[in-house]
Amino acid sequence: MVAKTHQQKAVVITGASAGIGRALAFEFAARGYKLGLTARRMEVLERVRDEIRTTHPLAQSIELQRLDVDATKMVGPALHALFAALGGADIVVVNAGINEPTFVGKGHLTKQTNIIQTNVIGAIATVDAAVEHFLTRGGGQIVGISSLASLQGIPGQGAYCASKAAFSMFLDSARVELRAKSISITKILPGFILTEIAPNMHKYPFVVSADKAAREIVSLIERRVRNGVVPHFPWWWMRPVFGHIPDWVWAKMM
Ligand SMILES: NC(=O)c1ccc[n+]([C@@H]2O[C@H](COP(=O)([O-])OP(=O)(O)OC[C@H]3O[C@@H](n4cnc5c(N)ncnc54)[C@H](OP(=O)(O)O)[C@@H]3O)[C@@H](O)[C@H]2O)c1
Repeated sequence: MVAKTHQQKAVVITGASAGIGRALAFEFAARGYKLGLTARRMEVLERVRDEIRTTHPLAQSIELQRLDVDATKMVGPALHALFAALGGADIVVVNAGINEPTFVGKGHLTKQTNIIQTNVIGAIATVDAAVEHFLTRGGGQIVGISSLASLQGIPGQGAYCASKAAFSMFLDSARVELRAKSISITKILPGFILTEIAPNMHKYPFVVSADKAAREIVSLIERRVRNGVVPHFPWWWMRPVFGHIPDWVWAKMM
C-alpha cells in the first residue's frame, strides 16, 4: 500500500455517539483524519459531527451511518455504504458495546444474551465487513476495543467478561489468519474509563476521562501495537495479576 498522511487516512468508528467512541472521533479529527461515524442514535451522531466541526474547523470530511450491530445481517451493507462514502477506509475501530450486571441463576438470560449479541456477534460482524473491505484494498487496520475484564472473571459481570474474552480471542485468531494480507490488528484493553456504560464509574480505581483514554488509544493505533492497555499506567504493570486474583478476594468484595 502507498503510505498516506493522516490527512488522507479515513477511520470508521462504531459506537461513536457516546463515551470512548465519541472521544476517539474528536481525537482523530484533531489529528487530521477523515471520519466515518456510526451508532444507532442518528440525532446524537449529528450533534457529535456538528460539535467536531465547531471544535476543529479544519476537520476533514465526516460521514455518518446509522448502524445497529445487533441487526447482524445489516452490519455488512451499512459499513460497505460508509466505506464507499469515504472513498475507502484505512482503520476500523470496533468499539460499540454494552454492559450491565448479570448474576448467574437469577433469571438474567435475556440480559446475558443481549451482551453476547452486541459485544461478540456484533463485533465479529463488524470485523468481518472491515476485513472484506481491506482485502479488496490490499490492507488496513482493525482496532478491537476489548477490556481488562477479558482477563479476569468478575462476579456480577459473567456475561460481560465472557463477551470480552471471546472478542479478544477472535481478534487474536484474526491476527494470525491475516498475517500475510497487510491487515493489522490492534487489541485495546481499557481499564475504567468515565463513560455512561456503568453507573458510579468515578468510584472505580485509576479511572480516567474518555478524552485521556482516547489520546492514549489513538497513539497506540498510530504505532500499530498488537496489544494496548489504557490507561497504560498502572494497568500495563498490573496486567499479569489479572486472571490470578483469588476467589476469596472477590468474595470479600461482594
Ligand atoms: N468505559 C469503560 O470503563 C470501559 C472499559 C473497558 C471496555 N470498554 C469498552 O469500550 C467500548 C465503549 O464503551 P463506552 O464506555 O464508551 O460505553 P458508552 O458510553 O455506553 O457508549 C457505547 C457506544 O456503543 C453504542 N452502541 C451500543 N449498543 C449498540 C448497538 N447495538 N449497535 C451499535 N452501537 C451500539 C452506543 O451508541 P447508540 O446507543 O447511539 O447506538 C454508544 O455510542 C465498549 O465496547 C466497552 O465494552 C469500556
